[in-house]
Amino acid sequence: MSHVWAAFAAPTDENGRPVKRALLLPATGVVVDIGAGFGHAIQYLDGNKVTKYVALEPNIRMHSDLRQTAETAGFHESDGSLVILSCGAEDTMQILKALGSPNPVDTITSILTLCSIPSPDRVITSLVRDVLKPGGQVLFYEHVLSPRADVAWWQRFWTPLWSVFSDGCRLDCPTSFAHSGDEGCR
Ligand SMILES: C[S@@+](CC[C@H](N)C(=O)[O-])C[C@H]1O[C@@H](n2cnc3c(N)ncnc32)[C@H](O)[C@@H]1O
Repeated sequence: MSHVWAAFAAPTDENGRPVKRALLLPATGVVVDIGAGFGHAIQYLDGNKVTKYVALEPNIRMHSDLRQTAETAGFHESDGSLVILSCGAEDTMQILKALGSPNPVDTITSILTLCSIPSPDRVITSLVRDVLKPGGQVLFYEHVLSPRADVAWWQRFWTPLWSVFSDGCRLDCPTSFAHSGDEGCR
């Protein structure tokens, strides 16, 4: 996946730039970025408002680039403003252990990650319940299962092959569950 995303990450980021800039601008305080990848979300964070950037990235092959991007933006492991965790978003125990207190997070961000997480609805629910401060924000930018039957058919057709090369990303995942109450991907 690190090789596949190395090829896709920059052009994908470029396409979504205006939306992501507006979406992530309100991020404040302690920010947990689920599925941080190579750290493309960091460029949209306001360093005056974000006190700590916590990257959840299970693929450790991405950590080196992720660390470099974060350090260039002013987030450092040495002063605690950068934390990189190799657990998945479902591992709330590990996240809480690393951050040290109940509900320590002000903002959760997810950029094109929910499609790779089995049962994303359950994962987001437990992150909001156990990790996010009351009144905190969840900011997400995801591809969705198309409401158009013809497009959804092609998404379902390509998903078995695509998910092999993209570490479980499902093109047909109804990641808009937050609005529709749909079931998760698997
Ligand atoms: C399509 S990439 C998006 C990366 C980044 N957010 C970006 O916009 O460039 C999806 C990322 O989710 C990560 N991922 C996969 N399963 C995960 C899980 N259970 N919890 C957190 N991240 C996961 C992958 O390793 C990958 O880096």
